[in-house]
Amino acid sequence: MENQNLLEKFQRYVDAENKIEAKDWMPDGYRKTLIRQMAQHAHSEVVGMLPEGNWISRAPSLRRKAILISKVQDEAGHGLYLYSACETLGVDRSTLIDELLCGKAKYSSIFNYPTLSWADIGAIGWLVDGAAIVNQVSLQRTSYGPYSRAMVRICKEESFHQRQGYEIMIALAKNGNAAQKKMAQEAFNRWWWPALMMFGPSDANSPNSAQNMAWKIKRHSNDELRQKFVDMTVPQAEYVGLTIPDKDLKWNEETGHYAFGEIDWTEFNEVVKGNGPCNKQRLQTRNAAHEKGTWVREAAMAYAQKQSERQKVSAA
Ligand code: 3HC
Repeated sequence: MENQNLLEKFQRYVDAENKIEAKDWMPDGYRKTLIRQMAQHAHSEVVGMLPEGNWISRAPSLRRKAILISKVQDEAGHGLYLYSACETLGVDRSTLIDELLCGKAKYSSIFNYPTLSWADIGAIGWLVDGAAIVNQVSLQRTSYGPYSRAMVRICKEESFHQRQGYEIMIALAKNGNAAQKKMAQEAFNRWWWPALMMFGPSDANSPNSAQNMAWKIKRHSNDELRQKFVDMTVPQAEYVGLTIPDKDLKWNEETGHYAFGEIDWTEFNEVVKGNGPCNKQRLQTRNAAHEKGTWVREAAMAYAQKQSERQKVSAA
C-alpha cells in the first residue's frame, strides 16, 4: 500500500512538470530505465569520437582541422557530463565503461558506419549532430533533473557541430567542383538512412517508449522526432543541390510533413546486434584507448589520494 501511495505521489509530481532529483524517492523502474538510456547516451558520445577522429590528421586545411579537433573534444565532454549525471543514480562509471568495453552495452547504431571521405565528416556534423539536436532539445525537458541540465549544456555545443558540418556540405555540394559534388552526394547517400535509424525503432516497436513517456523521461515519440528531422533536413539538402536517396519522399500538403520510404529495419537490428560495418573495429579501438589511458587514470587517482591525505593532515 505504502509503495502504491509513493508511486501515485511520484506520478502526480512528474505530471506537474517537476524535476526529479537524485535525492528524491523514485520507482526502481524509473532509476533502471534512466541508467539504461543515459549510459547508452554517454557511450554514444565517446564512441562517436572515433569515426570523426580518423579524419583529424586528414582534414583539408588547418581551419578545418581546428574545428574538427574542437568538435571531437566536445563529444568527450558530453560523454563525461552524461557519465556524471548517470552516477547520480547510484551506478559507478567504471561499471558502465566495463559493460561498453566487453560489448554488453549499447551505443547509437549510427557510429558503426565508416567515414570513407571528407564529405562524410560534413554529413556526420550536418545529419548525425542534426538528428542528435532534435532528440536532445526534446530531452532538455526530461523529468530527471541532472539529465535535463546536462542536455541544456550539450545542446548549446551541438548546434555548432551541426553548423560546421553543413558548412562543409555547402563548400562541397553547392560550391564545389564536379568531383566534390559527387563526393558529397555519395556521403549523403551513405548517411541519410542510418541517420533516420538513430531515432530508434518505430513507435509500434518501441518497448520502452510508453513507460518512458508516462514518466516524462521521453517527451516525444521516436517517430515524431524522426519526422521533425526529415521535415527540417530536406529543404537544407535541396538548398545545397543534394538529391535525397528516397524515391518515396514526397511533401504532403494535407499533413504538412514529408512522407518518406520504409526504413530497412533488418539493417537497423543487425547493426544494433553488433553486425554493422564497423562495430568490431569501434570496440577494438575503444578497448585499445582504454588500455593506453591506464596510466592517466592511475596518476589521477594517485593525485586525488594525495590531495585527500593532505586535506586530512591540514584539518587535524
Ligand atoms: N542505436 C542502438 N540502439 C538503439 C537505437 C539506436 N539508434 N535506438 C533504439 N535502440 C535500442 C534501445 O536502446 C532499446 O534497447 P534496450 O532496451 O536494450 O536499451 C531498443 O533499441 C528499443 O528502443 P526503444 O525506442 O524502446 O528505446 P528508448 O525508449 O530508449 O528510445 C532512444 C531510444 C530514442 C535512442 C532513446 O534511448 C534516447 O533518446 N536516447 C538518448 C539520446 C541518444 O542516446 N542519442 C544517441 C546519439 S548521441 C549523439 O548523437 C552524439 C552527438 O554528439 C553526435
